Amino acid sequence: MIKRYFTLLIIVLISMRLSAQVWVAPAENETKKSPFAFDDASRKAGAEIYMTNCKSCHGEPGKNNAVLLVPPPPDMSSVKVQANSDGAIQYKIAVGRGLMPSFKNTIPSTDVWKVISFLRSFNDKYVQEVSKNDGGGASVPNVKIKLNWLKESGQIQISLTAPSKEKGIQPVSAAEVKIFAKRYFGNLPVDEPRNTDALGKAVFNFPKDLPGDSIGSVQLLAVLSNDAFGDVKVDTTMSIGVPTYRAPLNEQRAMWNVVSKTPIWLLLAYTIAVLGAWGFIIYVFLQIRAISKEGSGKDTESAA
Ligand code: HEC
Repeated sequence: MIKRYFTLLIIVLISMRLSAQVWVAPAENETKKSPFAFDDASRKAGAEIYMTNCKSCHGEPGKNNAVLLVPPPPDMSSVKVQANSDGAIQYKIAVGRGLMPSFKNTIPSTDVWKVISFLRSFNDKYVQEVSKNDGGGASVPNVKIKLNWLKESGQIQISLTAPSKEKGIQPVSAAEVKIFAKRYFGNLPVDEPRNTDALGKAVFNFPKDLPGDSIGSVQLLAVLSNDAFGDVKVDTTMSIGVPTYRAPLNEQRAMWNVVSKTPIWLLLAYTIAVLGAWGFIIYVFLQIRAISKEGSGKDTESAA
């Protein structure tokens, strides 16, 4: 018993310690800046992303209506959050800690900057510093991603190019690219993220047994996340999966289907319940009738 209390005490102490710990972003992330200048459009887009992904825990900025968690999700207008540099906020959203999820694979980095642009609108003293990488965020180089299916090796090759003023179209090297296969619920990473080589190319291994649609088509998403370029994405469909027939979700009897496709047990249970209820009502009604008949019979007897 004592041992149990002791363990409990240790757990409480540890969680208190964790909740007291200040969350510090690594130095190289502290100084990161948005590749574009925050404006009304970015604030508006950021607000939308915030409402779908963050409000459920953090509440609306300035309203102190966050969910009760340990440690508590801070209000976004609070000093605690606003004291962070832009880079630190970006890092924390990407990486997460404890109950704060990592959004690295769900929210593209340009969208994270839009969220930050929304969060900063709750701070009157905030003055933005834009990343100098791309001349003040005015222009994002027009990077093109091309996907190629290497049939012999069963791999996907990616090539990145960008137009340059002096030299025409140039390969983009040392850029990190991720490939995802689109699934019903979310995106499935295909292989590890890769960096492009000097020729702007990278090769991804593709699983041989990945199910495609009925003719084997797989929808692929290639994403280049880079602070200098912002996010670049391409969507393509390739016939490289295993042809798979998937019954539509409403084909079989199921709870969510139309009445004619209700599960049998549900239909039976419902019918029995309804019949039972009506049976009881009719039984009570008949009993009342019998009582009143009996009563009226006695009446006439006593009168006679
Ligand atoms: C499941 C609940 C949950 C969701 C969803 C969530 N957060 Fe959090 N967030 C937390 C918790 C809990 C903490 C405190 C973590 C800690 O200090 O260990 C936190 C901390 C933070 C911090 C760090 C504050 C500091 O200490 O400097 C930021 C910034 C933040 N969240 C932003 C966001 C944004 C933006 C989103 C949406 C993209 C989001 N959070 C979604 C729960 C959540």
